[in-house]
Amino acid sequence: MHLWRAINARVVSLLPVGIRRRLAKPASSYAHNGGPTPKILTVDIVGACNLRCPSCPVGNTGPVNEKGLMSTELFQRIINKAAAEFGICGVLLFNWTESLLHPQLPEFIRIVKRKKLGCMLSSNLNVMRNIEDILKAGPDQFRISLSGFSQSVYGKTHLHGQIERVKENMRLLAAAKKRLRAKKTKISVYFHKYRHNIHEIEPMKRFAQELGFLFEETWAYYMPMEKLLLLLEGGLPEEEKRFVNEQFALPIVESVQAAKQIHDVSRCYLLEDHLVVNVKGDLALCCTVYDMNGLNNLGHFVDMSVADVQRAKSRHPTCDACAKHNIFLHYTYYDLPKLSQMYEELALRNLAKTRSARQVLNLPIVENQPASANT
Ligand SMILES: C[S@@+](CC[C@H](N)C(=O)[O-])C[C@H]1O[C@@H](n2cnc3c(N)ncnc32)[C@H](O)[C@@H]1O
Ligand code: SF4
Ligand code: SF4
Repeated sequence: MHLWRAINARVVSLLPVGIRRRLAKPASSYAHNGGPTPKILTVDIVGACNLRCPSCPVGNTGPVNEKGLMSTELFQRIINKAAAEFGICGVLLFNWTESLLHPQLPEFIRIVKRKKLGCMLSSNLNVMRNIEDILKAGPDQFRISLSGFSQSVYGKTHLHGQIERVKENMRLLAAAKKRLRAKKTKISVYFHKYRHNIHEIEPMKRFAQELGFLFEETWAYYMPMEKLLLLLEGGLPEEEKRFVNEQFALPIVESVQAAKQIHDVSRCYLLEDHLVVNVKGDLALCCTVYDMNGLNNLGHFVDMSVADVQRAKSRHPTCDACAKHNIFLHYTYYDLPKLSQMYEELALRNLAKTRSARQVLNLPIVENQPASANT
């Protein structure tokens, strides 16, 4: 999930100005019906990833979904429909998978750009091919996701990933961008912060900035929705619960409880503003859910009318479960200044219990810890 992070304010801020202006306008066909107005389309053009990150369903849930590659023909139909009937303005070529594994990725980007839509990629960058063709196709945003600077740190949370290969690909990417004068594509490094990797933020930030890339940090969280619900409702196996409690800087259960205290947001924009389509062309309820074999699979997108989509997304049982805990706010906390501030404090307080993090952060909150907490 773009989730994660980054779909709304953050992704939108990275899109070209003309597209941002269009995002401010509702898609009229949808708005007239009083229903949601999708603005962003997310498509998994591949049904696989080369890594097994334990905080992502690809690493923690097993192979429940369809594999394979999407054809450019199906993708073209999806884009045509989403643009004509839903008025989308931007396309994210990732949700739960790794789009750089698709040998025709440049053609997918060209299809999006021919429609004059914003286009974003996000990659673990362990595999990089066709990089010149990808840049020539002109994506607006290219995010590199990682969680460390050294292998021993990175490998814990980007399981099966090789950080030296990522760094080499980052150098090659920077060189290709320079060679092609591909100024339009913003490249950013997105550092997932856990308890064990805080001391590696600075070296990675320096490395990324020396290559001319933007640098962003985020508190890592636990995905997907199905697993988070199990955690909250006591059904997560002991070993996974231990991983969640020990690895995340952001204390996951406490942070969901903090989201529950926010009462003035009732609209879930992950439901209303986003269309999420898997490798087979099926529409998912939203970007936070993973298993497409049951209720969260709403149907084959190209066969659905606007009213079908609206109906399928209305009063969905998963949304009821999610709303009980305000999970949609937890996954989009960065758009809410009050919740972001609470999360910053929760994560820093949690990190204060870790010696290596304390040394790096040197926070007042750390200095106030009683001696017994200095473990
Ligand atoms: C599931 S990934 C799929 C795309 C690609 N494989 C990647 O990792 O960038 C989708 C987005 O989620 C972000 N992400 C992955 N794990 C995360 C975590 N534990 N916390 C917050 N964001 C995360 C990634 O940075 C990426 O932009
Ligand atoms: S690289 Fe991306 S899709 Fe793959 S396991 Fe990690 S977060 Fe999930
Ligand atoms: S309410 Fe929860 S389950 Fe429903 S669309 Fe929003 S994030 Fe997804």
